[in-house]
Amino acid sequence: MSDPKKLYIKTYGCQMNVYDSERMAEALGGQGYVETQTPDDADMILLNTCHIREKAAEKVYSELGRFKGLKAAKPDLKIGVAGCVAQAEGQEIMRRQPLVDLVVGPSSYHHLPEMEAKTRKGEKALVTDFPEEDKFAKLKGRPKAARGPTAFLSVQEGCDKFCAFCVVPYTRGAEYSRPVETVLSEARDLVERGVREITLLGQNVNAYHGAGPDGDEWSLARLIWALDDVDGLERIRFTTSHPNDMDDDLIEAHGTCDKLMPYLHLPVQSGSDRILKRMNRSHTAESYLRLIERIREARPDILLSGDFIVGFPEETEEDFQATMDLVAEVNYGYAYSFKYSTRPGTPAAERAQVDEDVKSERLYRLQDLITQQQRAIQDAMVGREVGVLFEKPGRLDGQMAGKSDHLHAVHVRDASLSVGELRRVRITESGTNSLAGELA
Ligand code: SAH
Ligand code: SF4
Ligand code: F3S
Repeated sequence: MSDPKKLYIKTYGCQMNVYDSERMAEALGGQGYVETQTPDDADMILLNTCHIREKAAEKVYSELGRFKGLKAAKPDLKIGVAGCVAQAEGQEIMRRQPLVDLVVGPSSYHHLPEMEAKTRKGEKALVTDFPEEDKFAKLKGRPKAARGPTAFLSVQEGCDKFCAFCVVPYTRGAEYSRPVETVLSEARDLVERGVREITLLGQNVNAYHGAGPDGDEWSLARLIWALDDVDGLERIRFTTSHPNDMDDDLIEAHGTCDKLMPYLHLPVQSGSDRILKRMNRSHTAESYLRLIERIREARPDILLSGDFIVGFPEETEEDFQATMDLVAEVNYGYAYSFKYSTRPGTPAAERAQVDEDVKSERLYRLQDLITQQQRAIQDAMVGREVGVLFEKPGRLDGQMAGKSDHLHAVHVRDASLSVGELRRVRITESGTNSLAGELA
C-alpha cells in the first residue's frame, strides 16, 4: 500500500470555518489524505479563508505567496483556497496567484473529492455555486480518529439580514437550516466518540428553523430540548445570535434547560439608533437593552458577550458615546470590537468614511472599557463554585485545563483528573487570562 497523502489545512475566520475545515479533512480522508500540522511535508495545502474585514482577506494572498518555494520544490503539491474569500474572489484568486489549483466556496464542499481528483490530473478546479441541498449530508468521508470532549456542530448557514457593512449574506448565501434528524444523529455520533459539549453553530443560529421529523419547522429552542435528551451530552452552547431572533422559548430555555450553559453571544454592533438604522440592524439600542433584561430575568448569572464596530460611516463622537453608554449599562463578560472595514459590494462602502485615526482612538477607548468589565466579571468568580469540563493537560505538571460553564478558561492542579471529566471546581484565583481553582 502507498503512503497516505498529507493534507495541511489552515483556518481563518469564524467557528463555522473551524467546523468546515474538520468536515473537509474528513471528506479528503476518503481520498486517502491524513492531516499534517505543517505545510512543509504536505501533498495538499488548503487555506480556509475569511472575507469579513480587509486585513483578513489580504492575508490570503500573502500566505499563498509564501508557498511558492514549496511548490517549486514539489511540483505535485496541490494548493487550494476554500471559505469566504474563495466565494467572493474565486476567479480573481486564480488570476492573481497562478499556483492555486483549486478554489471552492463554502456551499460546495461536497464537491471536494471530485475536485481533488481533477487537480491530480493537472487541471484546475473551481466551484462556487449555491446549490439547494444539504452539503453536510452529502459530505461523506472518514470521521476524525481522535476527538476532544468538545465539538462544533453547524446547524444553520447563511444570512438574510444584510447588515449594511457585512459580506456574509454574499459569501454564505441565503439562510438555510439543516433538518432536525441529521443534526440529532450527528450529535449522537459525536457523543459516542467521547464528546460531552456541543456548540451549535450558525451565522444566525437562533434563526434556526429546520424541518422536524413531525413535519413541523423546529425552532432552535426545540432543537436544544431534543439535544437535552441525548444521554452523555452534558453541555449545549450556541453561537452567533441576532437580537431579533431571540424568541421567548429560547430565553426561557436559558432559565430551565440545565444543559444549556449560562453564556450568550449577542452582538449589537452600536449603541446609537442613528447608526443602527444606517447599519440596517432593525433593532434599537433600547430594544436590545430590554431584551438583555428579559434574558437576565430568566438566567440571572448569564455571562453576556457581544460584537462592536467603531467608525461605521458617518459615526459621530456622540454616536460613539452612545455605544460606550450601552456597554456600560450591559456589563459584558467578553466583547469583540473592530474598526469598521470597507467591504466592496456592501451598501456602507458607498457612504462617507470615518478617518482612520478617529477609528483607532475610539477602538482604544471602547476596548479599555470592555477589558475593565471583563476583568471585574472574571475576578468576581473567585470564591464561587462552577462546573468545569477538562479539555487538555495544562502547562504545569499534574495540571488540567478546561472551560467553566461561563466559558472562562480554568486550570486545576490535581493528578487524579483526566481529559473529558466534568467536575465542580471552587475558584481560588483570577489570573490575566484564566482562573485557577481546586476540585470542590
Ligand atoms: N452573524 C454574526 C456576525 C458575523 S461577523 C452576527 O450577526 O452577529 C462577526 C462580526 O464581525 C460582526 O458581528 C461584526 O461586529 C464584525 N464585522 C462584520 N463586518 C464588518 C466590517 N465590514 N468591518 C468591521 N467589522 C465587521
Ligand atoms: Fe452579517 Fe448582519 Fe448577517 Fe450578522 S446578521 S452575518 S452581521 S449581515
Ligand atoms: Fe469570515 Fe466567512 Fe466566517 S467571512 S467570519 S469566515 S462566515
